[in-house]
Amino acid sequence: MTKHASTPMKRPTGFVERIPVVRPEENEITEEGSTRRTFLSYAIGAITGLIALVVGIPAVGYIVSPALKKEGEKWIPVGSIRKAKIGVPTLFKAKIVRKVGWEKNVSEEAMYALTEDGKSFTVLSNVCTHLGCRVHWDSDKNSYFCPCHGAVFDKQGNVVAGPPPRPLDRFQNKVENGKLYILGG
Ligand code: FES
Repeated sequence: MTKHASTPMKRPTGFVERIPVVRPEENEITEEGSTRRTFLSYAIGAITGLIALVVGIPAVGYIVSPALKKEGEKWIPVGSIRKAKIGVPTLFKAKIVRKVGWEKNVSEEAMYALTEDGKSFTVLSNVCTHLGCRVHWDSDKNSYFCPCHGAVFDKQGNVVAGPPPRPLDRFQNKVENGKLYILGG
């Protein structure tokens, strides 16, 4: 029997064993590398924040601005001036829409319009300036009367008797194409 002696494999001539070379900068966190990484993460954070601001501010403004915006004043038609009798306060009613932000309030308000020439008008609110009851025109007494606490106002809305602290409120008004308008908003 032939004995096979185990012979170590011979490397070809010129073979150079490759030993992995580990460079310190690849494997180690040097102080310089750490500073660079920190700087980069701050820069990315800052850029992300900036983008969020640029995109976010107009979006938030779009959502919030109507809530902060108050609608401007507008002229509200209350009726034909032909309805008003010369020298006698005449009751008019108007639907007033007030829009504040997202909310829309519709209310019907009454007012007395007085004209001496059929062209220019004094328009008075029918809300008593004491506690808000409705006043009515009393032709016999030639004055406005409030049923709640007995206040009396003259034809121009000035307080004649009772507790109200001030005259009846006046509406700014105009006449256009035969229609009476009050300024609301
Ligand atoms: S509410 Fe008109 S007098 Fe009081």
